Amino acid sequence: MNAAATTVRLADYRRPAFLIPEVVLDIDLQSEDEARVAATLSVQRNPDGASSSSLVLDLDEVSVESVAIDGKLLPPERWQADGRYLTVQDVPASFRLDTVSRIHPRQNTKLMGIYTSSTGFFSLCEAEGFRRITPFLDRPDVMARYTVTLHADRERYPVLLANGNCVAQGEEGGARHWARWVDPFPKPSYLFAVVAARLDRSQDSFRTRSGRNVLLQFFVEPGKLDQGVFALESLKHAMKWDEDTYGLEVDLDEYNIVAVGDFNAGAMENKGLNIFNTKLVLARSDISTDWDFNFIDRTVAHEYFHNWTGNRVTCRDWFQLALKEGLTVFREQQYAGDRYSRAVARIQAVRNLRTGQFPEDAGPMAHPVRPSAYQQVSNFYTSTVYQKGAELVRMMHTLVGPAKFRQAMDLYFREHDGQAVTTDALVAAVEEASGEDLSQFRLWYEQSGTARLSVRDQYDETSQTYVLTVTQSCPPTPGQPTKKPMHMPLTVGLLTPDGRELPLRLEGEKTGRGGSAVLSLRQETEVFRFIDVPVPPVPSLGRNFSAPVIIGYPYDDQALQLLLGYDSDAFNRWEAGQRLAMDLLLRGVADRRAGRPVQFPDYLAEAFGRVLADAQKDPAFAAEALTLPAEIIIAERLEEIDPQAVHEVRFAMRRFLAERLHGAFRSAYDLFATPGPYSPDAESSGRRALRNLCLAFLMDLGEAETRSLCVAQLAGATNMTDAMAALAALASCDCPERRPALDGFYAKWKDEPLVVDKWLSTEALSRLPGTVARVRELSRHPAFTLKNPNKVYALVGSFGVNQVNFHAADGSGYALMVELALALDPINPQVASRMVRNLERYKRYEPARRELMRAALQTIAAHPGLSRETGEVVGKALA
Ligand code: ARG
Ligand code: ZN
Repeated sequence: MNAAATTVRLADYRRPAFLIPEVVLDIDLQSEDEARVAATLSVQRNPDGASSSSLVLDLDEVSVESVAIDGKLLPPERWQADGRYLTVQDVPASFRLDTVSRIHPRQNTKLMGIYTSSTGFFSLCEAEGFRRITPFLDRPDVMARYTVTLHADRERYPVLLANGNCVAQGEEGGARHWARWVDPFPKPSYLFAVVAARLDRSQDSFRTRSGRNVLLQFFVEPGKLDQGVFALESLKHAMKWDEDTYGLEVDLDEYNIVAVGDFNAGAMENKGLNIFNTKLVLARSDISTDWDFNFIDRTVAHEYFHNWTGNRVTCRDWFQLALKEGLTVFREQQYAGDRYSRAVARIQAVRNLRTGQFPEDAGPMAHPVRPSAYQQVSNFYTSTVYQKGAELVRMMHTLVGPAKFRQAMDLYFREHDGQAVTTDALVAAVEEASGEDLSQFRLWYEQSGTARLSVRDQYDETSQTYVLTVTQSCPPTPGQPTKKPMHMPLTVGLLTPDGRELPLRLEGEKTGRGGSAVLSLRQETEVFRFIDVPVPPVPSLGRNFSAPVIIGYPYDDQALQLLLGYDSDAFNRWEAGQRLAMDLLLRGVADRRAGRPVQFPDYLAEAFGRVLADAQKDPAFAAEALTLPAEIIIAERLEEIDPQAVHEVRFAMRRFLAERLHGAFRSAYDLFATPGPYSPDAESSGRRALRNLCLAFLMDLGEAETRSLCVAQLAGATNMTDAMAALAALASCDCPERRPALDGFYAKWKDEPLVVDKWLSTEALSRLPGTVARVRELSRHPAFTLKNPNKVYALVGSFGVNQVNFHAADGSGYALMVELALALDPINPQVASRMVRNLERYKRYEPARRELMRAALQTIAAHPGLSRETGEVVGKALA
């Protein structure tokens, strides 16, 4: 029998009936199999809440042994614990509640609450994991001061950590020890964390601008301290950046970061005790790629930034998740823009949005940035909440400008420090600090779906005016058949036909605006009349991707080439190249489906050739500009998706470019070699990105000479970036060098779990036939286990985004996904439901695949004992 679906609604939000200002926990980790948790809660009736004679605490897989009020044990008839709640009857207005419970860390394969990993005990509580440790009002608007005492075996778990500061520790009988931690900051339960493990420690310090010294400690698996050096540097950079950019200082005396190999998320911002998935914190050049270094740097910063945007000001309820995540991702993006190339950071953020969020927003799980209902909050840690949430903050930043935005942030912290608030608190702060009316802007938090802008223009030579007409629309999404127009910034520029930037002046304006104007859209249709325009211009629309929308404008290839070559806005230079390729890809897909030959014009090769010839100026940008739109982004543009056709046409375009630009790719490969020792800085990683892109294009032709080059690069690589690029190229090349390369890579790295993940992922992403069978084989390989989320993401997650093999025409990819997801569901439903999401958009596919995917979803839906998490996804997909 499947768990009944219960929907939680924002409209039903009620303030908590009780508050719990103080929590004292005694956690006795008796063995991996069992821990005893004694909790002392100071409970008070909430004067602002509904009155209730019984206290109802959340509970999940915890067995409650005793309950006492003000020191007196309650008889069994005064309290009941069912699977979800502990109900204590007839409680006074203010009292002390003592509970004693048992939990079972090793059996906790869901990895929420306290669980075990190879080196000891770890925790993850966001969003609803604390209730798996002890009965509690496990909701973010209940904030408490915590005192935690941990007890564990001294030899096996020498490191004992919790939030805040360690105030006492000692030895106790039976070769055990204990430590007591006090967190001075009231916090919601989702920020609670404990660790008891055998770990190596490295230590550093940060001097804040007000002159306080903060102890920084990194805890990693024994023997891996060298892999923590990079992240520790990132942490210091992030602390400095937040002081310089937002005037925000670290508020703790001690800041600890712990790495763990088994983790559902990337990382977690627990107050003073961040816990990181090893893959997002451990880095060393021989085992980590440039991409890993970049991602680690940003994630360390992201979790640190949460200390203010998330921890000091937190969310009232889980519908407000984007309050902390959207804002923190935006801050992370600003940090990355400052540390790396601003343009490349923006391009990558937008690519992310288009590959993850746009499809989500066009599917059955589409939801607003602030959802209004959910069944399982764990299913709402989505691209929409994170990435689109960040775009909303960015739009406000664009609308009011950086100075006013900073004032708004100051105001936000001044007014809401220590509070649990809604997304509206942020919007209201921006509104108040800037004087801009954002009432219509708030719709962005409520309406789902990707809005479209249809832009038309007209030039009048006699009056020298240029008129832009912008019409917005937004397609229907689940529960939202019609949408209201939204308020958004549209940043535009105008180029002359020879590529010069025109000064902009709108009719009625006294002075011009320089080269870029932020137009504010509010009405469904807006008309902008530019005057003193001497020539018919080419519009550069949505500079720096000023709003998370799809802009339609009838560019011809010449206009796109002009923008690609001359736009002063680097993002739109890139965008022009993407449009140029996309138009031809879409035409190619149509031709192929109609049985016509697929051909590409010379101007495509010429345009890409010019980018390559110009690459010296900014290799990282060139690498982005030469990357064709991803298959999923192409697919998104089709009425009905035929993934095979998309794949083949894109591959054909790659081969066309590789043939036409063969010499240029080959010489760029030599030219952009990175001299000197490895460093993951923006400049040298840009050179490697470009060089490896050249290799990948050449490998699509599969010539023997390129293959030897590739094999030589793999064998001689002194860093993982170059090794992985070569391996990935070989993995998609049907040649005799392929299998030995993949097998050799595994043999070399079988003892480095994070590199094994790269190998699994490379195998699963191969474009070659036989990949379904290979993934099935690897799912039984000793290196793979369903119990470790990283292994699942590497093999099953990568396979799920392999557009050509997951969507194999015979349905074998879907069948494999069903098998693996159903095996995973009882072990780790959060991760399983993520895997199942690969099937959710079945209605978008051509009839044969649509039917196969629907059947796959139905098989899952009919499975006895399906988790609530997976149940929500299949239920919504099939609705
Ligand atoms: N707050 C974390 C972050 O974005 C993510 C936690 C997600 N939790 C989970 N169980 N997946 O930084
Ligand atoms: Zn976050």
